[in-house]
Amino acid sequence: MLSTTEPAQLCRSGGGLSWQILPDPPPSLPANLPTGLRGRLLTAADATALASLRRTVIERQLDSPDYYRLEAESPAFPASHLGPWGMGDQGLITGLFDAEQELIAYGALTLPAPGELSRADVLAIPPAEPDNLAYLASAMVRADWRGRGLHHCLIAWRQSLAQSLRRRHLLAAVWPGNHQSWGHLVAHGLPAKKLSPIGNGLTRLILHRDLEAPLPQPDPASRLLIPLDQLAAQEARFAAGYWLWRRIMATDGVFGVLARPRPEET
Ligand SMILES: CC(C)(COP(=O)(O)OP(=O)(O)OC[C@H]1O[C@@H](n2cnc3c(N)ncnc32)[C@H](O)[C@@H]1OP(=O)(O)O)[C@@H](O)C(=O)NCCC(=O)NCCS
Repeated sequence: MLSTTEPAQLCRSGGGLSWQILPDPPPSLPANLPTGLRGRLLTAADATALASLRRTVIERQLDSPDYYRLEAESPAFPASHLGPWGMGDQGLITGLFDAEQELIAYGALTLPAPGELSRADVLAIPPAEPDNLAYLASAMVRADWRGRGLHHCLIAWRQSLAQSLRRRHLLAAVWPGNHQSWGHLVAHGLPAKKLSPIGNGLTRLILHRDLEAPLPQPDPASRLLIPLDQLAAQEARFAAGYWLWRRIMATDGVFGVLARPRPEET
């Protein structure tokens, strides 16, 4: 059975943590991180370390150049997400550090100002709620730290922060080929609801979760298994109301599960 009722919960960063972390980041995350790892919000003082990590990943550690496109970023990112104590003007960045205090992973959460242009339009989020959005904007884990659950941790952490900040609509935009990214986000309860052009000839899955609504469920009767290399060509199905719920890693390749949401959840 398809299930999205149990989002991955490696790193349990509860509401209490989030409240503490915003005004006064604690020295470490009270979570089951690998030994020696510590987490905190990045500040402006981390800008150089962040730029270096991003350069390393983008230049040498992407499976495909399409996984991460700098041209899809706002030129102000990441400086706009870093302040003297943590949060910047447009969002925040969670960071994970190894035992030598080197930044080895980060995840950004963009917090658009009320009325700011956003992908909420694509999803028809009620206009009364535009200031309730948060974007899981960008995340990277250095190659030697991958496969240990850190991305799942960064997603859960930012989800908890968004909740604490009363940003009920979580959004993310991911290239359809980057199944490592969308596969994890859908596991945290953010199905992809649209396939949308985002400019510069780029197409992205638009993922969404309303943190104040029950997790939606797929209608098993409409289930379709789509090979990864055909996912970017599913515009018509997304337009017809299909969502992407789950990644399946099979011996003959990677697949995405498309299905309509159960009727009561549309
Ligand atoms: C995409 C990316 C962030 C994933 O990071 P990662 O840290 O390797 O991801 P995780 O370790 O959390 O997950 C990888 C697997 O390890 C598993 N895993 C291994 N050890 C684990 C542990 N101790 N606890 C939980 N999960 C564990 C996870 O369950 C996961 O399996 P799944 O893919 O079937 O869910 C990373 O590959 C990356 O930086 N890519 C380049 C940049 C990029 O594309 N970013 C995303 C777009 S912004």
